[in-house]
Amino acid sequence: MVSEVDIKNALKAVKYPGYSRDIISFGLVKEVAAKNGAVSVLMQLTTNNPDVASQIKVESERVLKALPGVTAVHVDVRSQGVPQAAAQTPWPSQNRIPGIQRVVAIASGKGGVGKSTVSVNLACGLQHLGARVGLLDCDIYGPTIPLMMGIHERPTISDEEKLVPPSSHGVKLMSMGFLLEGDQPVIWRGPMIMKTIQQFVTAVDWGELDFLLVDLPPGTGDAQLSLCQTVPLDGGVIVTTPQEASLGVVRKGIAMFERVNVPILGIVENMSYYTTPSGERVEIFGHGGGRAESERQGIPFLGEIPIFTEIREAGDRGVPIVVSAPEKPASRPFIAIAEVLRDKLSVSYKV
Ligand SMILES: Nc1ncnc2c1ncn2[C@@H]1O[C@H](COP(=O)(O)OP(=O)(O)OP(=O)(O)O)[C@@H](O)[C@H]1O
Ligand SMILES: [Mg+2]
Repeated sequence: MVSEVDIKNALKAVKYPGYSRDIISFGLVKEVAAKNGAVSVLMQLTTNNPDVASQIKVESERVLKALPGVTAVHVDVRSQGVPQAAAQTPWPSQNRIPGIQRVVAIASGKGGVGKSTVSVNLACGLQHLGARVGLLDCDIYGPTIPLMMGIHERPTISDEEKLVPPSSHGVKLMSMGFLLEGDQPVIWRGPMIMKTIQQFVTAVDWGELDFLLVDLPPGTGDAQLSLCQTVPLDGGVIVTTPQEASLGVVRKGIAMFERVNVPILGIVENMSYYTTPSGERVEIFGHGGGRAESERQGIPFLGEIPIFTEIREAGDRGVPIVVSAPEKPASRPFIAIAEVLRDKLSVSYKV
């Protein structure tokens, strides 16, 4: 006879549409019952999207009917009727920081893949699309984001004794770099780092934001895991280069987000290829690793960003390419990915 455990295990094969996570880990399954081969399941969605509900219903019925000993299946998928802003997303809202609609982490398996470049340009890209954006630079060992954003001032303290983030190109910024003197190395211990990051989220006067992007330190070790737990994240983006993807480093990033129950929004492949002045395409690190890996892992591929000298130069100048030349080919992939993120996270804001 089929048991409740069998039913739950079978439902783990049903992914939430568009995500790598299954409906059990999202906590959608509320009640499970089985008697004499008849199975009944109740699910509660936080979305009002009928397509999502019917897709989950059909797929759940399919896997349950395939279980040995099951003769009848009844799957009831209910919608919660939550407000539109949170309606399209599977994640619960209890962790929200007041005033901030979505917190998204940008991570990579290894250093030097262009994670900070992607964070900065996505932040400015979302701002370009009309969103209110903040950027939190958690990369304690090499806080490059203030340089890339051209910010030289430090946060001030408000009358309410909150840290007021400086802003540049319309994006509010908080960085460990603000707390360092010149080039001194960071010798803080883990707990101190976590505490500071926590304050960066809670004791900062971010105001109203549609998105807070978080640039995590490179790697997928314990420090990154605790950071993911420190900041209440709505989703994670993994940045990779083509060859890094083929080495399986991306899988570690996926595993890290899954361990802390952060929905993976997708993979961005950076430094995909280089176009020579004569128009020849050179795939320095191979090509398509990011897309292939995302297909293998069943998670969305968000886009590829070629190597453009202007991207690096813009970063060095403190004016990201998306700000200085939003219409140029070097900016287009960032803006396209920003659009995908905006739509995936379904933040309702005025444009
Ligand atoms: N698509 C690109 N085209 C040209 N240059 C790029 C591109 N992406 C990143 N770079 C350059 O590569 C270098 C490394 O990028 P970046 O600092 O963003 O990487 P990172 O992953 O954040 O590194 P770290 O692990 O040190 O934090 C920078 O000089 C940056 O300007
Ligand atoms: Mg970086």
